[in-house]
Amino acid sequence: MSVAIYPGSFDPITNGHVSILQSGLTCFDRIIVAVLQNPKKRSLFTVEERVDMIREEFAGEPNIEVDSFGGLLVDYCRRKQVRVVLRGLRAVADFEYELQMANMNRHLNEDVETVFIMANDAYFYVSSNIVKEAATLGGDVSRLVPPSVGSKLLSKLGR
Ligand code: PNS
Repeated sequence: MSVAIYPGSFDPITNGHVSILQSGLTCFDRIIVAVLQNPKKRSLFTVEERVDMIREEFAGEPNIEVDSFGGLLVDYCRRKQVRVVLRGLRAVADFEYELQMANMNRHLNEDVETVFIMANDAYFYVSSNIVKEAATLGGDVSRLVPPSVGSKLLSKLGR
């Protein structure tokens, strides 16, 4: 069985992430979505809220597991006995950051390989940060996030 770990902040999950996961399921039998617990990074949603939102979105998909992790990604991969990390690639701006992370992860554990899936062009410029910024300023982001995330975003922002 082929398994990949799809790590990220997911603050919150966007349709871009959903699309990468759907494409990922054509390459892997099972994907573990791993939400980073990073107390140093200010986030809008708690790790538990982020995990719940992803679980809700993929409730009918038995091949997607949702979990959270702290510390090094390669250590989490070792604990889960998974050797493939899945990441999505959007605009050129992602490339250097992703190259750095993939190389660092390979340096830390050469048994872990990173594979990339190109983002769907509909979501090429969609990121959790830009979605949060637009929503905070009153913009309509309902087509960029799953419906349940959209409503949670609005209530989080007090609307
Ligand atoms: O969604 P993001 O914020 O781009 O995801 C980044 C993430 C969570 C994949 C990355 O920050 C990560 O793996 N952090 C865990 C700490 C770690 O392993 N660092 C060394 C490799 S960069």
